[in-house]
Amino acid sequence: MSILAIDAGTTGVTALVVTDEGAIAARGYQEFPQHFPRPGWVEHVPEEIWQATLEACRQALAGADRDAVVGIGITNQRETVVLWDRETLGSPRRAIVWQDRRTASLCGDMAAHEQRIAELTGLRLDPYFSGTKLAWIRQNEPHTWALVESGRYAVGTVDSYLIARMTRGLEHVTDVSNACRTLLFDLTAGDWSDELCALFGVPRDALPELVPNWGASITTDPRSFLDLALPVAGMAGDQQAALFGQGCFDVGDAKCTYGTGSFILTNTGGTLARSDAGLLSTAAWRAPDGHLTYALEGAIFVTGAAVQWLRDGLQVIGSAAETEALARTVPSSDGVVFVPALTGLGAPHWDPHARGTIVGITRGTTRAHLVRATLEAIAFEVRDVMATLPTPLASLRVDGGASANDLLCQLQADQLGVDVSRPRYVETTGLGAAFLAGLGTGVWDSLDDVRDTWALDRTFSPSGSREDADAAYARWTDAVERAKGWG
Ligand code: G3P
Repeated sequence: MSILAIDAGTTGVTALVVTDEGAIAARGYQEFPQHFPRPGWVEHVPEEIWQATLEACRQALAGADRDAVVGIGITNQRETVVLWDRETLGSPRRAIVWQDRRTASLCGDMAAHEQRIAELTGLRLDPYFSGTKLAWIRQNEPHTWALVESGRYAVGTVDSYLIARMTRGLEHVTDVSNACRTLLFDLTAGDWSDELCALFGVPRDALPELVPNWGASITTDPRSFLDLALPVAGMAGDQQAALFGQGCFDVGDAKCTYGTGSFILTNTGGTLARSDAGLLSTAAWRAPDGHLTYALEGAIFVTGAAVQWLRDGLQVIGSAAETEALARTVPSSDGVVFVPALTGLGAPHWDPHARGTIVGITRGTTRAHLVRATLEAIAFEVRDVMATLPTPLASLRVDGGASANDLLCQLQADQLGVDVSRPRYVETTGLGAAFLAGLGTGVWDSLDDVRDTWALDRTFSPSGSREDADAAYARWTDAVERAKGWG
């Protein structure tokens, strides 16, 4: 038996066929275009996400025993808002992506509500989250919004949109891990909030129905989805899926996923823990029996995206894979510090006006120093977040594309001063979606069964002197202060 897991990320869609032993039997990947219509704006064409999903799934299924697939798991970039016509499934406008900062001034206008919003949602009033993006469409595109109000257009996140496409419009659903990132969800009640819907002007009827993270009864329509009639039996936002995929089921278990951004989540069990140091409170998952598990999250906006900028913006590298070898050609960044605040700063600083900053350049600085400074920056950003966790961690599990970089993992262990463990598969986000769907279809019977599939690749232990690590971190902290409030 196997599961088809779909990971609809920010820059592309990955499809995995995962066997009942937790092994990845086949993969597919398809990138889709990013649209930047104005500075600070980031958009996706929903149809392009859908076509990339079909293509990635075709590739993965071509490499595996298609008849052995018994269910589908979906995981997705969170917060990105999508509108679609309930009849035609066409979208009246592009999706507004989580990275989009167009609502910074709208957030300023709503500042009087910030405390109440934080109390209800566990989040902050920041352009990152969906509610401000929907309020922007309502204010700026009244004709589109009128059809949301009339019930013709559905509102959702990428998971809801894909499920609508896969079921030919029959289902309009989401789960708590996505809903809780919209600013429209009451985290304590575990349901949409009428008060918040009224505040952001979003009709509650336009929002998806909430279903459990595994075991919902949703079936794909073969006419729309690759001739397959299969249960979509598991779903979760990508960071919560990675927490699940790392087997972080106990209170205090934590993981860091290095993707476009980096996201550190720690399981807080049935307790809605709150942070006054810049962490978000978030829903992790809800079991079919209704039991809700929470997490604390440190969301860092730019990590892999900084490497992408070195490649596509500065053009000092040809591919992300080159960074390790290039950074190893120099023993240190030689005093160069790069703060990759390319879309402002997220956790724990939360400054939408911060700008990317490079300090310490001399005539001897080369691209190797800059690349090394970029990897160091990722490790420093994660240390910034880890320093705010209520309980210090004894070790950290890492995953995501950049965790394949041994130098980054070593720098991370050196900075944190604890062991950093990398699993056999770093595509933990997709694996998490597979595990959720596998629980929903009986491929695995319990969380313990799932946990048993986790296998270690390598542990990186702290090396070098603590003083050197702390001195480098102090330089970073100084540079971050210089990057703040620049825009
Ligand atoms: O909150 C944004 C997050 O879900 C995006 O994840 O992996 O696409 O960077 P990723």
